[in-house]
Amino acid sequence: MQVTVRGLASQKDFPVAYEDSDLRSDLLHFLRGKGVTIASSCEGEGVCKKCAIQNGWLTCEMTLEEFLKCRPDGVIEISYL
Ligand code: FES
Repeated sequence: MQVTVRGLASQKDFPVAYEDSDLRSDLLHFLRGKGVTIASSCEGEGVCKKCAIQNGWLTCEMTLEEFLKCRPDGVIEISYL
């Protein structure tokens, strides 16, 4: 299974594979673990808001499973990539 990281600045898509065991991970740590740069100055405290993706969703406050329920096509849009 995979999600797609869409860099809005670069206009490029990057496939990112995941396993069932990743579904409960927050997006911030899941994506960083896959080598995707996610901005943060509070390291997941929910304060800095720099980790936001589309719709203002915070990657530190949303699991991969929650994201896929909101966005079944699995496209994660990141403005600065
Ligand atoms: S990492 Fe700071 S709000 Fe998400």
